[in-house]
Parts: sequence; C-alpha cells; structure tokens
Amino acid sequence: MHDSSGTGLILGIESSCDETAAAVVRSGSAALSNVVASQMALHANYGGVVPELASREHLRNIVPVVREAMSQAGIAFADLDAIAVTEGPGLAGALLVGITYAKALSFGLDKPLIGVNHLEGHIHAVLMEARQRAEAPMELPLLALVVSGGHTHLYLAKQGSESTWSYRNVGRTVDDAAGEAYDKVAKLLGLGYPGGPWIDALATHGNPRAVPFQFGHIKPRPYREGISFPNKKAPPAATGATFDFSFSGIKTAVLRYVETNHMRQSIEARRAALAADLAIKPRSPEAAPLCDQQTLDLLASFQYAVVGNLLRQTFAAAESFGARGIVVSGGVAANSELRRRFQAEADRRGLPIAFPSLALSTDNAAMIAAAAWPKFLARDFAPADLGPTPQLRLGER
Ligand code: KG4
Ligand code: ZN
Repeated sequence: MHDSSGTGLILGIESSCDETAAAVVRSGSAALSNVVASQMALHANYGGVVPELASREHLRNIVPVVREAMSQAGIAFADLDAIAVTEGPGLAGALLVGITYAKALSFGLDKPLIGVNHLEGHIHAVLMEARQRAEAPMELPLLALVVSGGHTHLYLAKQGSESTWSYRNVGRTVDDAAGEAYDKVAKLLGLGYPGGPWIDALATHGNPRAVPFQFGHIKPRPYREGISFPNKKAPPAATGATFDFSFSGIKTAVLRYVETNHMRQSIEARRAALAADLAIKPRSPEAAPLCDQQTLDLLASFQYAVVGNLLRQTFAAAESFGARGIVVSGGVAANSELRRRFQAEADRRGLPIAFPSLALSTDNAAMIAAAAWPKFLARDFAPADLGPTPQLRLGER
C-alpha cells in the first residue's frame, strides 16, 4: 500500500445528468458498493432530461444514495480517505447538488475533496474492472471511445507515472451524440425513452441492409461539448480533425424515410399502445409485435449504420495514433451489436479491447471514485471553491 494512501477508500459522487449515484471504491480497483438512483422514469414522460426536474430529484436522492453506498460498503465516514465528485461536463444545476454535498462532507469530515471529469470517469470504469479481474494492464497508449447520450469522443490516453493520466481528444461529434441519435430516432418511431435499449432489442428482428444509410464527409462546424443544447457561440472546430462524427444527418434521413413511406399512422398507434401499457419493456415479448417489418428493418439499418460509423472512426484513429488497445465506454457501449462488431474487428486486428460491465456502462459513481485514485496518489485535490463546469473538456485537442 502506498504510504499516503491510508486504506485507499474513496467515496465517489455523481450527479451530472439524470442519475444520482454514490459508490465506495478501494484503491481504484475494487468497488465495495455502487448505488444508482435513476430518474429515467420521471424524464421518460417528457422524452428527454428536463434540467430543473433533474436538480430537484438529485436534491431528494443525494442523502439516501450516499448513505446506502456507505452502508453497502460496510464502512463509516471516518474510514474514508477522500471524497470524489463529478465537476463536469453536465447540467449546471445537477452538478451543483453533488458538488455542494461532497464539499460539505469533505469539510465536515476533514477529508480531501477530488474533482473528477465525468468523461475520464467513463474511461476509468473499464480500467477499474480490468484491475478487479486482475488482468494484466492494457498496454499504452489506449484509444478510448466515450459514447453516450451527451458525448461521442475519441481520446488517446497515456499514463505518465503511476499517478498521472493524460488525454488527447482526437475525435468528437460536430452535432448530436450517438446516444442522442438513438433517443431521437426511437422517439420519432414511437418507442420509449431512453431509445438505445429499445433499438438494441428490436433491431435483432430486422434486416440491417434494408435501408442503406450513408455517412458523408464532415465539414468543420461549430463545436459544442457536454450535455448542453446547441451553443451558437461555441468556438469553431479545430481544423484538420479527421476522426470526427456527425449523427444529425442520419436522424434526418430516418425522418425522411418515415415521411416517404407514410409510416405516421402506425407510429402513433405504437406510441398509444406503449403509453397504455407501461409494463412493456424493450425485451418484453409484446414489444416486437408492435412494429411492422418495415419499422424493424429501419431500426436494424439505423443501428447497423451508426455502429459501422463508430467502428470505422475508432479503428482508423487507433491505427493512425498507434494505439495498443481500445476501450469503449458510456451508455451506448451497452449496445449488443456494438460490442459484437467491435470485438470481432479487434480480434481480426489482434488488438486488445475492453468494455465495462453493463452496470458500469451507463452513469455511475464507481467510475468517479476510480478516476480519483491516481489524483489521490498525486495529492491533486480540489480547491475549496470548486464549482460545476458544465462544458468541462478532457485533455488537449
Ligand atoms: O452514459 P449515459 O448513461 O449518460 C450520458 O452521459 O449520456 O448514456 C445514456 C445514453 C442514452 O442516449 C441511451 O439511449 C444510450 O446511452 N444507451 C444505449 C443503450 N443503452 C443505453 N444505446 C444503444 N444501445 C443500448 N443498449
Ligand atoms: Zn455519462
């Protein structure tokens, strides 16, 4: 054990979007607890995250969620070595709840506070689980694809010494995130929120080659980050980036397909059927029969195109930067077709690849506590005036 590390117990707190989460992780490698209170059912009524409602729910949940994480870990507050909290990117009001509570705990317990970038957290979810399985560490540099409802980023990750990681952002979406495209297409087709699990489950019943969606050349466009909505004042994209993504075109192409093929009526019927029976989940036997074959083929074709695009850009970047391994994380990393095709491509190239378990793919706090561990070793503590940074970036471009 490292001299300054005590027992290595870090409490992580995450509240950047629509999950209130707390977890206790030992030495960045063993999750003693991982508690997530999801607000999904609440936001599902609106077809997306409502920031004001999210903050209020975080306020309601933060104390019981932290208490539960401590109790499941079987430790007392006094046993902790540090408190880690997501400082961004995310919704300002949502981040504020976690940060304020973490600061109060840190002050009250006289334990150091560590600010963690949510995107770095997603990457460390995978590294933590690999350590937990006692696997040999992946060789560096790693190419990390962080793909969720708010982000689609490629990072080249390196480790300077035991305690410092550095990142270079080598690819990003110029418009929608991949998960956002899943959510919007699902909503357009009368399916539930979040859309990813619906399309994942239903696409298996369709023909992925029925509709040939194309991804064209990406022109540099204003760049926005975080989970925010389009920001016209965002700085122009760095020119010359060749591993960028764009998912708003395919969403429009799906809309056009729906209009051309007069699918509105069947969509409304499906929307009504799902609204009338909230017990129907993506993998319920009742779900697929709510879709005609044309809809199932459309969903399969959409997913085939999105996963193919993510795959091409990721492996091209990995090759171009000489990555020794690939890590895929974030909500969309839960997708079964994505995992299957990425694994097959990695095997074909003889490149190691790692995904988080399903529980650690979507937002959680174990990943925040894990990412805080190298910072704890480096005594990289947050200032007393730590605040939320909704547009926080990870690494240099
Ligand atoms: O990481 P996450 O929980 O929150 C953000 O930071 O955004 O990711 C949520 C996103 C949503 O857009 C959701 O539709 C997508 O991840 N998602 C999936 C799947 N499960 C969740 N997308 C595709 N396939 C899935 N199985
Ligand atoms: Zn996330």
